[in-house]
Amino acid sequence: MIYFGFFLLLCGLMQVMASYPIWWSLAVGHQYTSLGTQPILCGSIPGLVPKQLRFCRNYVEIMPSVAEGVKIGIQECQHQFRGRRWNCTTINDLAIFGPVLDKATRESSFVHAIASAGVAFAVTRSCAEGSATICGCDTRHKGPPGEGWKWGGCSEDAEFGSMVSREFADARENRPDARSAMNRHNNEAGRMSIIDHMHLKCKCHGLSGSCEVKTCWWSQPDFRVIGDYLKDKYDSSSEMVVEKHRESRGWVETLRPKFAFFKPPMERDLVYYESSPNFCEPNPETGSFGTRDRICNVTSHGIDGCDLLCCGRGHNTRTEKRKEKCHCIFHWCCYVSCQECVRVYDVHTCK
Ligand SMILES: *[C@@H]1O[C@H](CO)[C@@H](O)[C@H](O)[C@H]1NC(C)=O
Ligand SMILES: *[C@@H]1O[C@H](CO)[C@@H](O)[C@H](O)[C@H]1NC(C)=O
Repeated sequence: MIYFGFFLLLCGLMQVMASYPIWWSLAVGHQYTSLGTQPILCGSIPGLVPKQLRFCRNYVEIMPSVAEGVKIGIQECQHQFRGRRWNCTTINDLAIFGPVLDKATRESSFVHAIASAGVAFAVTRSCAEGSATICGCDTRHKGPPGEGWKWGGCSEDAEFGSMVSREFADARENRPDARSAMNRHNNEAGRMSIIDHMHLKCKCHGLSGSCEVKTCWWSQPDFRVIGDYLKDKYDSSSEMVVEKHRESRGWVETLRPKFAFFKPPMERDLVYYESSPNFCEPNPETGSFGTRDRICNVTSHGIDGCDLLCCGRGHNTRTEKRKEKCHCIFHWCCYVSCQECVRVYDVHTCK
């Protein structure tokens, strides 16, 4: 009994101490795959604060999109970081990224921004697809039609998606400490990137695509555009320092740019205040897996190149045979036939 109590206490502590939202685990592993088929039991989602639990119960029909949003955020993170020492690996259902995100690093800033952008994006998309009753198309931002086109179709309501992301993703970021301030800032920067990239999408109607009538609507960009944009923000993210102020409600931490001679960060920039480990060697404390056995690019001088990725330890080379389609012939009409060839590749991995 005592042990069990201790275990519960430990779980409670883990939830309080982890600096990333544990409900992100909704997006990975078995919890996610069961979402589509079962009614969501809000009480069974780990790590929800009371405000999120209320939200989940009131708007349960959009919860699958919230989970989907975190999932596309994590997938995009893995794409953007695929050649880097830390490659956005998820480790298991509950710890998701492991201790890596406990520190207020640039990596944490990126993951928060892309996850909250993902939630805004997925909710907005599913509303436009008509999969929830409480939301739909945007009718407020139409304005007069343009030259040669008129409004039509369903404009995506990015403000609704952002509002859901703000309510849900920021619900636990209300502590007076520096980490909460950082997470709030980066979450908002992620959501803004979606609003900023809204664009008109148009479709031609008329006999055989003659474009006699053209209709347009507001659309979100591909999520890859958001990923590329936020990756640039990661590369230029601003280092901050923590300042303590005494206010009537007690001590409050805020962030101030570390270097006065750099341009201070704007709303759209990512901020962090702790330096990253170098991720070269495995270290369970920092959550680094090290880069041993990682595939590196022998011709690149960038971070994915063997020198930098392998941290100067050198690399091994092996050859790998891969079957590929080749000598393809187009037959009139219409199919293509190919032969199968074996090609030999050099594969370089870090020592
Ligand atoms: C990411 O890093 C992990 C740990 O080093 C490795 O096991 C995995 O294969 C890497 N993924 C990619 C896509 O390189
Ligand atoms: C390796 O790096 C070179 C130079 O940056 C690049 O052109 C090439 O596409 C890279 N190869 C792979 C497999 O990523």
